[in-house]
Amino acid sequence: KKFVCGVDLGGTKINTGIMDVDGNILCNVKIPTEADKGPQHVINNIKISIIESLNKLNIDVSQIEGIGIGAPGPLNADRGVVECPPNLPGWIDIPLVDILKRDFDTEIKLNNDANAAALAEYLFGAGQGINNIVYMTVSTGIGGGAIIDGKLYNGANSNAAEIGHHTINFDGPRWCNCGNPGCLESYASGTSLVKFAKKHIESGRDTILKDKPSGELKAEDIFDAAKSGDKLALELIENEAFYLGIGIVNIMAFYNPEIIIIGGGLSSQWDVLYDKMMKTVDERALKPNRQICKVVKAKLGGNVGLIGAASLVL
Ligand code: BGC
Ligand code: NA
Ligand code: ZN
Repeated sequence: KKFVCGVDLGGTKINTGIMDVDGNILCNVKIPTEADKGPQHVINNIKISIIESLNKLNIDVSQIEGIGIGAPGPLNADRGVVECPPNLPGWIDIPLVDILKRDFDTEIKLNNDANAAALAEYLFGAGQGINNIVYMTVSTGIGGGAIIDGKLYNGANSNAAEIGHHTINFDGPRWCNCGNPGCLESYASGTSLVKFAKKHIESGRDTILKDKPSGELKAEDIFDAAKSGDKLALELIENEAFYLGIGIVNIMAFYNPEIIIIGGGLSSQWDVLYDKMMKTVDERALKPNRQICKVVKAKLGGNVGLIGAASLVL
């Protein structure tokens, strides 16, 4: 047997595929999560994506070593239970591993999506040969994963490095679905970038962003508007980069990593964000922590979560 299956369960899409033991993705299937339709529906989508991936390669479940799932947390990896992820509505203590075992007779492992991605970058990406790594994903939510002294650090119950939910302003906005005010996620995620834009539009700011129906506004639109010189969009991106910088300063203080690897949807705007973000880091981080640490984009790109998930069963 030389294949493993990975499922990258995201708030907006599921990316499932088959990988060989060297980290090569042999095929993959991307489908919408449809998270608003609830856990039952999403679990069915996961099953479909696994079956389609196996079919694409013309293999069956007896020919894979196992299935690894990277899911938004909080979750319990040992028990295989997704506990209360802020960006998957209705998911409360769902025993995902047991449910999937009914359909797939193979080893099934669950871990946090960002933990899995950290492992992927360590094994096959920008973190190869580096023993102290923090991975940060910036997308619908913000997540983190830490490799400490060459090992994935899960914490006491798999929820270490939940860096999206560290407080950067104790009086901050209360729109993070975890319930805590002022999370990094409620300042610097793709979702919060859109929320800030909507607040300004509602208060009457002039911007080309107001031409979009409010339900359709995406983070990407704000980056596009900034490129065409829109003042509000430029301001929002300036702030986005600043908040990310603050997050990185804190990560450097907490973990003293040799490298911070950033992935997720917003990392595709690397060239726009990098200099601004690092200006804040250079101004504020502890000097030795800053000096030792490189900040880079995920080398495995859009498949980092999938490779990470599959790596859980290697
Ligand atoms: C969750 C994390 C996850 C991140 C990205 C956050 O809201 O709490 O566990 O890694 O979103 O999906
Ligand atoms: Na994590
Ligand atoms: Zn939060």
